[in-house]
Amino acid sequence: MSFFLIQMNFDGKDIISIKDFSKKEINFILEKAKEMLPYAKGEKYKDILKGKILSTLFFEPSTRTRLSFESAMNRLGGRVIGFADPSATSQKKGESLADTIRMADSYSDAIVIRHPQEGAARLAAEFANSPVLNAGDGAGRHPTQCLLDLFTIQTEKKKINKKKIVLVGDLKYGRTVHSLAYALALYGANLSFVSPANLKMPKEVNNECKKLGVEPTHSSNLEKAIKDADVLYVTRIQKERFPDAEEYNKVVGSYKIDNEMLKNAKRSLIVMHPLPRVVEIDPEVDNTSHALYFKQAFNGVPTRMALLSLSSGVTL
Ligand code: CP
Repeated sequence: MSFFLIQMNFDGKDIISIKDFSKKEINFILEKAKEMLPYAKGEKYKDILKGKILSTLFFEPSTRTRLSFESAMNRLGGRVIGFADPSATSQKKGESLADTIRMADSYSDAIVIRHPQEGAARLAAEFANSPVLNAGDGAGRHPTQCLLDLFTIQTEKKKINKKKIVLVGDLKYGRTVHSLAYALALYGANLSFVSPANLKMPKEVNNECKKLGVEPTHSSNLEKAIKDADVLYVTRIQKERFPDAEEYNKVVGSYKIDNEMLKNAKRSLIVMHPLPRVVEIDPEVDNTSHALYFKQAFNGVPTRMALLSLSSGVTL
């Protein structure tokens, strides 16, 4: 596992969970992401990953994570192999995940994997010599999304400590908020969790926050939570994770952010969403100064450029 964060003694580590990183290490990655911004925008070019190959193995649908990883690799002169449709791979013939990983490992220098099963990225890392970057494992974790979210908040708000951050929506199945809640607690944010009663943040994540000295508030009242918030992080109700369609139908549309909902918010409130959105943010919000979700999605490119370059042992 030589393709990794050499300046912070990350040799041999994979990116499976944000909990694999200390605050100092996260700050270091965010600093590198900032340096990557002009390269991510195509204003500057350096082929520091020339000769490197990245495997992108997507066993679940994706737009942003896969394309931003591919863009990041291409922007730095590297190449990408992989698949977005597992039914067109030998998995269809019964090949195991372990063997698929062994193959990708022998064909490339790093592996990005998205998989519907929680723990799949951790398992993949056991069968790969090159680093494995978790692009989302079921309802588990999504560490690179977490890093780009932190990058976005830090860039927009200058600091995270003491900022009031409201996480709203499907906090039970939404893997992005599981990683983010932990990381925000690490930075000492003031956390407020808003969800329907049956989609509350898992106890495990709540306890992680408490251990870090942050006591999140829990409620189902979004209007009240928004009032003095600095960041509103909205999530989609994760239809694909519900064991029962009836249960999904009961909660879909529980929260809808529109201009009326935001009328008493701080002028400086930013609205974030990992995307895709379905019904939870009205398109009328897109044209307001609150809407940060498209910029947030773009920030996936510099953040993933930072991760890919650091893990290859080269910097700008
Ligand atoms: N945020 C995110 O993971 O988006 P995609 O599912 O489109 O990759």
